[in-house]
Amino acid sequence: MSRKTGILISGRGSNMSALIEAAKGPGYPAEIAVVISNNLDAEGLKYAEEAGIATAAIDHRAHDSREAFEHVVDAELREHNVELVCLAGFMRLLTAEFVDGWRDRIINIHPSLLPAYPGVSIHERVVNDGVRISGCTVHFVRAEMDMGPIIAQAAVPVLPDDTADTLAQRVLTSEHRLYPQALRLVADGRVRVVHERVVFADPETESAPLYVPALRGNTR
Ligand code: GRF
Repeated sequence: MSRKTGILISGRGSNMSALIEAAKGPGYPAEIAVVISNNLDAEGLKYAEEAGIATAAIDHRAHDSREAFEHVVDAELREHNVELVCLAGFMRLLTAEFVDGWRDRIINIHPSLLPAYPGVSIHERVVNDGVRISGCTVHFVRAEMDMGPIIAQAAVPVLPDDTADTLAQRVLTSEHRLYPQALRLVADGRVRVVHERVVFADPETESAPLYVPALRGNTR
């Protein structure tokens, strides 16, 4: 059974594209039903349209309150019978009401090994701190930013000559592999949340969501 999935974006949409491409694969358990952007000029919208996916541009500035904006987003998701929501570079904070309405059915990708480095300017902070291993995380969304039960993580080495940009690029490559893998787990019903931790249906699944890409080579 293919779970109808909505993706919320604000910009480039490269993670969105990775999810769209993965969902085209045979037997993938999620189908991308709609892409919604709060930014009318988001590059990702064009990609989604060209891929034949329904899109909606909902300008948050055109609404009086966060709640009013989210009400329209929620209606759009429900209109497309969405069961799962993926945040992919969606740059608006969501209210507790919205998040609770989609509890354990809304996931996010963040370019650090959470709970380390929530927030913004992650790669700058990682490089400045001299951290040796960074990465990315897919987690269930909670009302607190970048918090919530962790579904999958990928580790990415920080190289001695890395800048925030080169690290961002290498982490992004990992994001594009990790997010489709994590959505697959959720859509397949192979993960569930127990006491605010993710529990895997089988031990084989448990080891799948963590990998360390090669230190050098084509992941650079
Ligand atoms: C990614 O690094 C994602 O982890 C973060 O925002 C960025 C979005 O990039 N939440 P894109 O729009 O998916 O290309």
